[in-house]
Amino acid sequence: MNKLRICVAGATGWAGSALAQAIFTAEDMELVAAISRSHAGKSLGEVPGMKELTAPIFGTADEALQTHPDVFVEYTKADAARGHILSALGNGAHVVVGTSGLSNEDYEEIDRVAQQVNRGVLAVGNFALTVVLLQKFAEMAVRYIPHWEIIDYAHAGKKDVPSGTARELANRLSKIREAELEVPLEEIEGPVETRGARLQGTQVHSIRLPGYVISIDAIFGMPDQKLILRHESGTSAEPYVNGALLAIREVGKLVGVHRGLDSVMKF
Ligand SMILES: NC(=O)c1ccc[n+]([C@@H]2O[C@H](COP(=O)([O-])OP(=O)(O)OC[C@H]3O[C@@H](n4cnc5c(N)ncnc54)[C@H](OP(=O)(O)O)[C@@H]3O)[C@@H](O)[C@H]2O)c1
Repeated sequence: MNKLRICVAGATGWAGSALAQAIFTAEDMELVAAISRSHAGKSLGEVPGMKELTAPIFGTADEALQTHPDVFVEYTKADAARGHILSALGNGAHVVVGTSGLSNEDYEEIDRVAQQVNRGVLAVGNFALTVVLLQKFAEMAVRYIPHWEIIDYAHAGKKDVPSGTARELANRLSKIREAELEVPLEEIEGPVETRGARLQGTQVHSIRLPGYVISIDAIFGMPDQKLILRHESGTSAEPYVNGALLAIREVGKLVGVHRGLDSVMKF
């Protein structure tokens, strides 16, 4: 069996290191390269906690792509992600994006390039199964309930707002319809920012406080009844690993940008 050759950008980070370890033990995958600026020139095994791993670490995507991976996993930061993804596509790799913070305009540009080079990009704001299910249930709810809002909670140090999970959910719901507002934003009395940001037809509120990890509420309101869908994650990166492995195995069957893990799941 030919193993899938994988490069993980951000393999020394919180999410990327858990994934790198799982790729290392997967029988159908080979971790051929890792990217981290501060550990460039070492092998992953020299990074604390990653003793057995042997993949070389490069400081840039262009250097890492010389190892000719089949799949490039982007797990760094929003400001680096777009450039990494375009380089990976230019070098013939399919791409799995875990990094949050890319805009819809970024994805439109990435989609154009991916279509041109006949490669797949699977962008997943949250690989956790409970989030995938929340997205599906929310899509069902907006078909019946015209009023909803999203609250995205994270730790105080998370710079990007709203979370990739909230962006992806707003994007998906916009394909069904826009949330109705009883009082239009231009008729609000008081600071309009307190009603959140309107993102693709959904009001989104981002809370950044110590004590939170990552959670999201999708709240659907009707007269005298409401539905609250909530996902809460714990402190380990474990919930994201299996979803990311599935994305890596399936992305080669796609062309262009696909958003959400359910693009490659059966429901
Ligand atoms: N989709 C999901 O399910 C999911 C789950 C968890 C996290 N995330 C997202 O994934 C991203 C990473 O999160 P994290 O918590 O793992 O971050 P982290 O612990 O800070 O790790 C970031 C990693 O990226 C590398 N990096 C950062 N900037 C870079 C650059 N300009 N060029 C090359 N490498 C760079 C870092 O190494 P150096 O600093 O040494 O370069 C490190 O290895 C975030 O956007 C986060 O929101 C998504």
